[in-house]
Amino acid sequence: MTTDRAPTAEPAGASPASLGEVRLDVQDLVIRLGESGPDVVSDISFTVPAGEVLGLVGESGSGKTTVALALLGHARRGLSVTAGQVRLDGVDLLRLSPADLRAVRGARVTYVPQDPSAALNPALRIGTQLREALRVHPGAVDDVDGRVSEVLREVHLDASPAMLRRYPHQLSGGQQQRVALAMAFCCRPSLIVLDEPTTGLDVSTQRHVLDTVRSLCTSYGVAAVYVSHDLAVVGGLVAQVAVMYAGRIIEIGATGRVFPYPLHPYTRGLLAAVPSVDRAEVLSGIEGQPPGPGRRGRGCSFAARCGYALEDCRSQVPEPVHIEGRAVRAARAIRHPVRRAGRIVRRRRRRVRLRQDHACSLHRRPAFRLGR
Ligand SMILES: Nc1ncnc2c1ncn2[C@@H]1O[C@H](COP(=O)(O)OP(=O)(O)OP(=O)(O)O)[C@@H](O)[C@H]1O
Ligand code: SF4
Ligand SMILES: [Mg+2]
Repeated sequence: MTTDRAPTAEPAGASPASLGEVRLDVQDLVIRLGESGPDVVSDISFTVPAGEVLGLVGESGSGKTTVALALLGHARRGLSVTAGQVRLDGVDLLRLSPADLRAVRGARVTYVPQDPSAALNPALRIGTQLREALRVHPGAVDDVDGRVSEVLREVHLDASPAMLRRYPHQLSGGQQQRVALAMAFCCRPSLIVLDEPTTGLDVSTQRHVLDTVRSLCTSYGVAAVYVSHDLAVVGGLVAQVAVMYAGRIIEIGATGRVFPYPLHPYTRGLLAAVPSVDRAEVLSGIEGQPPGPGRRGRGCSFAARCGYALEDCRSQVPEPVHIEGRAVRAARAIRHPVRRAGRIVRRRRRRVRLRQDHACSLHRRPAFRLGR
């Protein structure tokens, strides 16, 4: 995007932030194909306080990675950020000069990819890689070797010389992901972005990695954005959840509200597809495919798959409405969760009434910001 000024970033080490203070503030982010093509993601707004994890969930192609990378001030080849702000501790990363952005990445904001081997250099020993990560950001810590040992212990890895001498291929997948976490946390960042970091791991290793992320974020006041298509994983980890569909956030709110009481039909469909030992019922998926960039039509992009769609859903984009402590982008958000087939039948009459109550709310300006 074009910039009229380039604020200077503090290069290394997170400034201390009190728990609950907003660290990441994303407003009205738009990313397009090319400079002026169709939007890949649009109207993306959310905040993440120090010590909290925001979960970004949605089907494949919904735009999660596109948003995640924008949090590092990056757009993939062929895409460009055309509007919006990504403010980290008050500094808009999208307006930094390339040199300042390089100083910020890896120090103030760090990234953990799905495949840890993509984050680790196969030709370098673990100790060397961690020391390098600290040395390219002078000032991040005073004692490099001391910090290497400390961060390995923080991610529950053995900090012995033998471990430091190992190459990535001499570690298990779970250990590799812990080293990737150590790389991400070593400079004491303000923000950590994790893109499906536990997808290839078994359930108990996933749980350990997730617990580590949560406890480090809380201990050091780090804000985190955790991308996942696995709602079961996210439900146990994050304080807030943002559900993406076709490049937009269609529901966002506290996990404790959104998961038990999903309002948007898409959120409800996603949750109905999550297996649970508490529910003995046939899982239902969502029929059809999400539309890609440039194929989203004029109205609600979920209309082709939505069992509640009416004619105006296909011609008018529903703007966010605030209901029960969260923002929902749906013309007819349903107030009560209807997850069991039996309950759907019993509540049908009430649901019809609520559909009429929630006529399309076509606000001019989207206002996706969690009420804090
Ligand atoms: N560089 C690019 N050029 C063109 N289209 C792209 C590019 N990168 C992503 N897209 C498109 O943008 C949309 C969002 O992609 P993105 O990778 O953000 O999705 P995602 O939610 O992370 O999916 P997944 O869960 O599969 O990782 C997709 O339709 C994808 O095809
Ligand atoms: S706006 Fe219409 S099509 Fe879209 S989710 Fe709501 S009811 Fe369904
Ligand atoms: Mg992705």
